[in-house]
Amino acid sequence: MIICRCNEVTLHEIKQFISKKPYATFDELKLATTASTACGRCHSLLKKTYDKINKDLPSNKQLRISF
Ligand code: FES
Repeated sequence: MIICRCNEVTLHEIKQFISKKPYATFDELKLATTASTACGRCHSLLKKTYDKINKDLPSNKQLRISF
């Protein structure tokens, strides 16, 4: 599934980036994948996708400190 038509960025690429860099911000995702860096029409879909993937990975971003 293509998320960004201008730069032909797929959902798979988005998922791959987030799985490799779970602490990445939305802007870092845009820079790395080039999604939403041309016309911007895909911005809301990209943001929803970013939010959903992060939400579906519940504990991957939590800092775990063991004592
Ligand atoms: S569709 Fe993503 S920047 Fe145009």
